[in-house]
Formats: sequence, C-alpha cells, structure tokens
Amino acid sequence: MIIKACIFDLDGVIVDTAKYHFIAWRNIARDLGFEFTEIHNERLKGVSRMRSLEILLEVGGITLDEKTKDALAKRKNEEYLEYITKMTPDEILPGTTDFLKDLRKNGILTALGSASKNSMIILKRLNISSMFDVIIDGNKVSKAKPDPEVFLKGAEELKIPPANCIVFEDAGAGVEAAIAAGMKCIGIGNPFILSGADAVIPGFREMYFRKLNLLLQ
Ligand code: G6P
Ligand code: MG
Repeated sequence: MIIKACIFDLDGVIVDTAKYHFIAWRNIARDLGFEFTEIHNERLKGVSRMRSLEILLEVGGITLDEKTKDALAKRKNEEYLEYITKMTPDEILPGTTDFLKDLRKNGILTALGSASKNSMIILKRLNISSMFDVIIDGNKVSKAKPDPEVFLKGAEELKIPPANCIVFEDAGAGVEAAIAAGMKCIGIGNPFILSGADAVIPGFREMYFRKLNLLLQ
C-alpha cells in the first residue's frame, strides 16, 4: 500500500473524551432511574449523539417520544460542554502531536473524521486545528459510523483515493466504517474489541511514519 493520507477519529484517539461523554450520559440515566455502566458506555463509542441516547434508553428499557429525546440529548450536551470547554492541550493523548508533525514532514496529508458535532470546540481547546488539512465532523455528515460517509468525505476533500488512506479508530463502529470505505484501519486500544482492524496499537507514543508500513505488512 502507498500511504498518502491519515484520517484520525477524535474521541478516544486524539483525546480521552469518552470519560466526559460517560459522566454526562450516566447522569441522564440516573435521572431516568437506572444505572448506566462503563461496560454499557463501550457501545456509545463512535456513534452519534441521538443513536447514543437510543442505546442508553434500550439499556434502561425505556421508550420516549421524540420531543423528550431531543430535550435529553440537549441536556446531555450542555453538561458535556461544561467539561470540554475546560480542556487544555495537556489532555492530548501522548505522542499524538509528534506523530502528526512527523506525518507532515513526510508529506502525508491529515484529516479528522469524527462523528462529534463538538469537534471544532475540542480541537481549538487543544490548539491543534491547524495540524489537519481537512476536518470532517458530525455537522458535515448525515450517516453515522459504521457508515463510511465521514471517511469517504475526508478522502474526497483531501483528493486522495480511499485505497491510499489509513484510518485511526478506537471504536468498533469506526473500524467497520473505515473498512467499508476501502481504507486500511489501525485500531487504538483493545485488540479484542478492535479485531476487525488491520493492526492495533495502544496509542501514538513512539509512533512514526516509517513504522506505519511495518505495522500494515
Ligand atoms: C464520537 C464519540 C461518541 C459521541 C459522538 C457524537 O464519535 O465517540 O461517543 O456520541 O462522537 O458526539 P457529540 O459531541 O456530537 O455529542
Ligand atoms: Mg472514537
């Protein structure tokens, strides 16, 4: 494979926002009268805000009308915003900035491919917006992962064929989306959860462009 571009998921790849999503969703569940655990939370990784709420309601065995669901999703996001608007660049996961710089140095294009409608707020707080040539977030797509739309849009805006792109993902739904887009996928995190990925690494610490080819061999 000739690598020309790298597409990064945001939550769980560049920064650990899963903990903030979790606290906010758990509080919604508590108000609805049930406990939402970290094991349940695994199912929310990579999926859209509304789909997350639907999964949460499924866990609690609760059915609600659309208006109530909209209000709950809004409330969850308000609490989530309280956390992310206080984030600092210290929260960028180890090795990420060096890896992004190394990719640029080697002429590799970079894109963000995230389901989050809050991506821009987070990238600005982390001070890394300029490290991406293209940013595709939840406001630019209509179909959530595992649909490949977010990654295909990224490749299209970068003007690079999908076959020359590598996606970095921490969620099962994201790995599925990358494969469906015809891209190679490197999982970040648990090899058991990310068994569909072409390779799995714990994170970007000590990660360099020259190691990418070795990983995909
Ligand atoms: C990411 C996270 C999901 C989250 C989704 C939407 O993919 O992994 O857990 O539900 O973004 O995030 P948002 O910030 O738009 O609510
Ligand atoms: Mg993620």
